[in-house]
Amino acid sequence: MPGPSDIVVVGSANIDLIAYTRRVPEAGETVVGDRFQMGFGGKGANQAVMARLLGSHVHMIGCLGDDLYGQMYLDNFAEYGVDVTHVYVTPGSTGVAPIWVEPDGTNRIIIVPGANDLLTPDQAAAGVEAHPGAAIVIGQFEIPQSVTARAFQAARSVGTLTLLNPAPAAPIADELLAATDWLIPNEIEFASIGGGDPFDDAALTRFAAETRCRLVVTLGEAGVALVGQDGTVRRVSADRVEAVDTTGAGDAFVGSFSHGLAIGLDELAAAQLAMACASDSVTRPGTQTSFPDAVRCRELRRELGLADG
Ligand code: RIB
Repeated sequence: MPGPSDIVVVGSANIDLIAYTRRVPEAGETVVGDRFQMGFGGKGANQAVMARLLGSHVHMIGCLGDDLYGQMYLDNFAEYGVDVTHVYVTPGSTGVAPIWVEPDGTNRIIIVPGANDLLTPDQAAAGVEAHPGAAIVIGQFEIPQSVTARAFQAARSVGTLTLLNPAPAAPIADELLAATDWLIPNEIEFASIGGGDPFDDAALTRFAAETRCRLVVTLGEAGVALVGQDGTVRRVSADRVEAVDTTGAGDAFVGSFSHGLAIGLDELAAAQLAMACASDSVTRPGTQTSFPDAVRCRELRRELGLADG
């Protein structure tokens, strides 16, 4: 039976193909990179893995291709202990993401969705309905919004919280927004969904009221802004760290914030835990490989004065 820290993630899984380079090429130019790393990514799967590393029971809903990458991904989920009962394998290619990372850790990402686009609304709803006691259902924008909307509607019908990370940036469909409880964009996504300037408290409060969503905006090195239930804005600063690769830091935040809410932390404590995990992740290369492992997660929790679990 699902317990209070069961989390359902409906979303993408990509194979990340990361090139580390001193500088990125101009149009028509070829540059020589320093290093290459292949790894497991996709915003949905990354968030699932981060929540799992912190101890949540995580159920993934998504679609992989019937290629080598798809099988490798199933093995990766198994290694982390993410439940894949509702991960479907379809004819075709698993999603891939070529990524460029510069020395200061900034990244540029192209996603080619492949099988991620083939998850159906019925499959998504069935995956959610299989876990009526889950605390949270998380979605992003790397599968069709209509599919996430069905998953969120199924969650709402049993009183499960829904949390949307509207990434990569795109306007939010009305049916999806209507079924969303928490919105977690970064600053670029916040602007693209009509929020305006996330450093302006009034813009944050106004947007939360207009969308009727709880709102957290991630701001990279500037930390996060959290709009409280009463409309007041609180800000959590980021730890000062030496960034080598920021890929997946937003996903580390979303996965750990969800875990925090799922185990009953208040939203400020959940945001502090999430900020610590995201900051820690940028100090290591890769996507899921950069996330704090279970031992480091325990250390981070202790540093914040949080109990294990
Ligand atoms: O947020 C980082 C992720 O974006 C990468 O893992 C890549 O696959 C894309 O989904």
